Amino acid sequence: MAIYLDNAASMRVKAEALAAAMPFMAEQFGNPSSLHTPGLTAKKAIQKAREDIATCLWCKPSEIVFTSGGTESDNLAIKGYFEANCGRGKHIITTDIEHPAVAESIAWLRKMQGAEVTVLPVDGQGLVSAAQVASAIRPDTILIAVQFANNEIGTIQPVAEIAAVAKARGIALFVDAVQAVGHLPFALGSAEGAGKLPAGVTPKDYEGITMLAASPHKFGGPKGVGFLFVREGTKLMPILHGGPQEQMLRAGTENVPGIVGTAAALVASCRELRSNMRKMRELRDRMIDRILTEIPDSRVNGSRKQRLAGNVNVSFAGVEAASVLVLMDMAGIACSGGSACSSTSGKVSHVIEALHIPPEYENGTIRMTLSPETTQAEVDGAVTALAEIVAKLREGRKV
Ligand SMILES: Cc1ncc(COP(=O)(O)O)c(C=O)c1O
Repeated sequence: MAIYLDNAASMRVKAEALAAAMPFMAEQFGNPSSLHTPGLTAKKAIQKAREDIATCLWCKPSEIVFTSGGTESDNLAIKGYFEANCGRGKHIITTDIEHPAVAESIAWLRKMQGAEVTVLPVDGQGLVSAAQVASAIRPDTILIAVQFANNEIGTIQPVAEIAAVAKARGIALFVDAVQAVGHLPFALGSAEGAGKLPAGVTPKDYEGITMLAASPHKFGGPKGVGFLFVREGTKLMPILHGGPQEQMLRAGTENVPGIVGTAAALVASCRELRSNMRKMRELRDRMIDRILTEIPDSRVNGSRKQRLAGNVNVSFAGVEAASVLVLMDMAGIACSGGSACSSTSGKVSHVIEALHIPPEYENGTIRMTLSPETTQAEVDGAVTALAEIVAKLREGRKV
């Protein structure tokens, strides 16, 4: 593929992650639960990975639970917290632009376990406010589930403010940070991290976050592995039953190469975070500005200010996204319509629907997501191709 602009779906595995994971695929294949030397080698590697991740996120190693990815982390946080705490109440607050892994977990609790759910509407930029969250709290509210950043439009929620509300009211806050970890600074505040505090956060900011989900294939790590931060003292029930791995919270033999690769990818991402964010922001803004000025009847979706550094989500009036994507692919440019999971359905995504954009734009929405490797030449090449493709499709409609 000549130009890859679908990094929010999956990013190329970083060299550091590959190098760290490979030995655990090949010669160091012991089971971490075994008591012999190969087993202990694997166990130590997991512990080191846990420590490295905790250092990056300013939390305790014991607060990291390894899972099979973002979806499982979301399920474990939501279902596991509800199961363990529903004696105190059954009310959950969430937003209308959560990833299906969150929205469907909550829908399942509503259907099967009697959960009562308040779904907060976002504004035209995809933002929910701390005041909205505060006013939805009831005496029986036990959980607030708000994503850190949206996978389709890149909008970053005011999580520090929401966390302050949750903490003050003594309610658990779960944050799906799958699109944010490795891309934004974090300090979860339960332990000292290494070196300087990441710029832009204080250890107090996220003290109100009870659980936080991450998925390494979004930040240069492998697929099929992820983790959930669970703040010390949080009561959680496992959703998978079996062996005693992961402090009895996640049964099953650990994905050792995946876990080791996750830590290496996160360490590398955190090391280069500031410069990568700056570079991607510049390219993102260049791309959006060029699209808005060079392609008539185009619009950008989501907040321009509170936005992930690598996210470009745009709509073109009177054009079908599916046709744009096919022609872009034929031109050697990989991008997507909305999220990777909704792009096959052909339906307008629930996120775009929630923004209430003018109807003529809804079906013409595409997402291009950059990585630290993306170059200006690639961005410019993609915009030039996009302008030609949109013009061609509009021309075709007139005939
Ligand atoms: C915000 C968000 N949450 C959860 C997930 C699911 O993560 P995974 O693909 O690791 O299961 C994704 C994946 O796109 C996502 O973007």
